[in-house]
Amino acid sequence: MPAALQTIGWWTRPLAYTERLRARYGPRFTMRLAGQPPFVVLTDPADLRALFTAPPDVLHPGEGARLLEPIVGPNSVILLDGATHLEQRKLMLPAFHGDRMQRLTGLMQQLTERELDGWPVDAPVELHPRLQRLTLEIILRAVFGLDEGERLDLLRDRLPAILSFGDSPISLLPQAQRLLRGRGTFGRFERARAEVDRELFALIEERRREDAERDDVLAMLLAARHSDGSPMTDEEIRDELVTALVAGHETTASSLGFAFEQLARSPEVQERLAAEAAEDGDDYLDATINEVMRRRPVLPNPEPRLVKQEVTIGGWTYPAGVVLIGGAYLVHHDPQIYPDPYAFRPERFLASKPGTYTWLPFGGGRRRCLGASFALLEMRLVLRAASQRFTVAATGPRQGTRRRMITITPGDGARVVLSRRTTFQEDRTAPTRQLVAR
Ligand code: HEM
Repeated sequence: MPAALQTIGWWTRPLAYTERLRARYGPRFTMRLAGQPPFVVLTDPADLRALFTAPPDVLHPGEGARLLEPIVGPNSVILLDGATHLEQRKLMLPAFHGDRMQRLTGLMQQLTERELDGWPVDAPVELHPRLQRLTLEIILRAVFGLDEGERLDLLRDRLPAILSFGDSPISLLPQAQRLLRGRGTFGRFERARAEVDRELFALIEERRREDAERDDVLAMLLAARHSDGSPMTDEEIRDELVTALVAGHETTASSLGFAFEQLARSPEVQERLAAEAAEDGDDYLDATINEVMRRRPVLPNPEPRLVKQEVTIGGWTYPAGVVLIGGAYLVHHDPQIYPDPYAFRPERFLASKPGTYTWLPFGGGRRRCLGASFALLEMRLVLRAASQRFTVAATGPRQGTRRRMITITPGDGARVVLSRRTTFQEDRTAPTRQLVAR
């Protein structure tokens, strides 16, 4: 197929198009997209293992993410490769460790309850915008460590404008970014970014002087030390906070949107979740989340890896300049790995835990999502609270998915009808069992 047609297929129907290519060409195939180097998609778990464990100087995922630089800044862990990436990642790991996340449970739970209190019942509602609002609030409070007040209000108001800048494909092209500097949409973006940065630098400065102990991610970044003992600079901290926002806000909201979309069509799963929540269990809840993320990985492919040094994977040798892509969505829908792959069936994950190279919503290896424990905790809290309060019903035929930058989101904004569960007693004085972050 001519490159132009391949590009249209990939851009307009990324899931169906790559499924067709796999059916036709087998577990590894090359796409030639307009103006891009060859993209080789790998879907054999043994190839994915090799992809994720290749040495850091052989494959560079960071280079492909350069277009995010105007938003996340040059120090962002997402943009770095090789030794500098490893060093930056090491600084951030403790802040996102499961044990640390545990301390954020109370705050996340409180914000979740507040959001769910406002959800309308017995009428169609689009949950995706509400979930976006919730995941933004959770990041601003638990990662940025903002307290209620003017600064939180200002950032809550301005940040979405900066994030949506990436919605326009033109603004994402580095060449266009250089040309547009100071003008039109890009100029507005730059001014909004300057305003946000002023607030963030003021926040970092205040928090450096404060000696209160806090549980948020910012506290951990302030305490982190480079290998030479020096603290992270204000610019580094700013860039990593915004990186967490870019990487963790839409992704978690869309995953939750897909969860509600699937639950709306699976009353038996809802009943099982509600029964388990009443008994304080969480095995089925975890299995449900694993299955939602298998069926609908919001990043159908983890970061593309640019080959820097010739590498052999699965008997094929790829020269420098080729881009390797781990086909997470395709692995998740391989009937050899997941029988009846289009069925939504949490029970798959009761008997066996997700496989390192067969369950890939968070990517893998040394680039694996830093916020995975954070996102899973958040999803568990929201789905548990919702399954205690509501039943969820679909409003019509399934609408599929919509592409948003490199992520997919529910096609109809996760439109459902919620009904109040008759058994739910709102008793805020009762101690809530803490879900454990994993
Ligand atoms: C359901 C929600 C989420 C999904 C599906 C998701 C998925 C991913 C994926 C696929 C990658 C690329 C991994 C690779 O290429 O191997 C990634 C990277 C990353 N994610 Fe997430 N993510 C989610 C939530 C979050 C959250 C909440 C945060 C932070 C609070 C976060 C922070 C990051 C960071 C910093 C990276 C870059 C890691 C690196 O380059 O070393 N993510 N995520």
